[in-house]
Amino acid sequence: TTTAPAIHRGLAGVVVDTTEISTVVQETNSLTYRGYPVQDLAARRSFEEVAHLLWYGELPDAAQLHDFRARERALRPLDRTTLELLARLPETCHPMDVLRTAVSFFGAEDPTEDDGSPAANRAKSLTLLAKLPTVVAADQRRRRGLTPIPPDPSLGYAENFFHMCFGSVPDPDVVRCFEISLVLYAEHSFNASTFTARVVTSTLSDLYSAVTAAIGALKGPLHGGANEAVMHMLLEIEDPQRAETWLDEALASKRKIMGFGHRVYKNGDSRVPLMQAALDRLVARSADPEATRLATLLAALRHTMITRKGIHPNLDYPAGLAYHLMGFDTPTFTPIFVMSRITGWTAHITEQLTHNALIRPLAAYAGPARRAVPGPA
Ligand code: SDX
Repeated sequence: TTTAPAIHRGLAGVVVDTTEISTVVQETNSLTYRGYPVQDLAARRSFEEVAHLLWYGELPDAAQLHDFRARERALRPLDRTTLELLARLPETCHPMDVLRTAVSFFGAEDPTEDDGSPAANRAKSLTLLAKLPTVVAADQRRRRGLTPIPPDPSLGYAENFFHMCFGSVPDPDVVRCFEISLVLYAEHSFNASTFTARVVTSTLSDLYSAVTAAIGALKGPLHGGANEAVMHMLLEIEDPQRAETWLDEALASKRKIMGFGHRVYKNGDSRVPLMQAALDRLVARSADPEATRLATLLAALRHTMITRKGIHPNLDYPAGLAYHLMGFDTPTFTPIFVMSRITGWTAHITEQLTHNALIRPLAAYAGPARRAVPGPA
């Protein structure tokens, strides 16, 4: 008798290819982008520099950074047809649907869509890096009944996003916290949305199709949608005193607690300490008592999850509340994740094409045995 093949549900623990972009080391809870520890990059480099590192394999020198910034800023504006298209989407639709539609539209109107050469894909990657914040900001304002604020080419990537959302740039310390979150969210090896992008690319389909698919994957609450779900959880519990009983009930009903757990990190997500420190700074500088109450609730849930279940928070856990304190609407949280992860996704799309193999796994059959169709032949 043949032995049944081992099933690797969720591809857990399965190594399917090599990558030179980043590595997540479970044993040491570490993450490096092209060899640099992400904590050092987040503390000392801008998001633009990290995007350059992920795409080109090296941090930019002064001239390269100047050129990168100039090209990125020039690509930020949306043309009228795009703004009109997005304005026609239902206001009740999720902003991730708006992003998915925008990327699909960018592809539809790009004459180089089917040119998969490294140069053409680099250009599309920079276009998406530059335009996605403009889409996200316009959509948040639309949901608030406000007209879009055009991008300001005199502002850096992070400052410009605040400008387009709120018409002003906050204190540099707040912008720094936002920039730290962008660097931490940028890349994470073969996570579900990145692998989705690689599967689409492996058929030699185009970059916009791969990114549209990745946005679909990231939307799910088990993946990028968790940062939004954490905020809903905090607002549902409300009172820190209720944390333990709420958690006991949730765990008893086998609910997944959003912002906790990870497929690779089993003793804590390497990105959490830096994001938590940024959140602590935002709470300390906030005059709003709600900030302290939510931070206390966050800490109480974290303590109970670690002591009760031995399950640690992931990056989405501190990031959600941090975005709330920066003034972003909760449905904007996962779109911000997309604004950052577009760098990792497009780096992997390019890498997949350098040594492509069609991604097509097997299944162990568990259906009915072969049988004849009833009735006359
Ligand atoms: C991201 O892969 C990446 O790198 C993703 C990401 C990135 O940068 O791209 O890091 C971003 O997606 C972070 C994860 C955000 N998702 C959430 O916060 C949603 C809540 N988390 C869980 O759904 C879960 O932890 C996963 C999906 C993240 C990972 O789950 P696994 O590896 O499939 O493990 P599992 O679900 O089989 O859990 C193992 C055990 C189970 O208990 P038993 O059924 O064996 O008794 O741990 C329990 C689970 O019930 N468990 C949880 C839990 N996470 C795991 N129980 C309650 N709440 C949780 N959050």
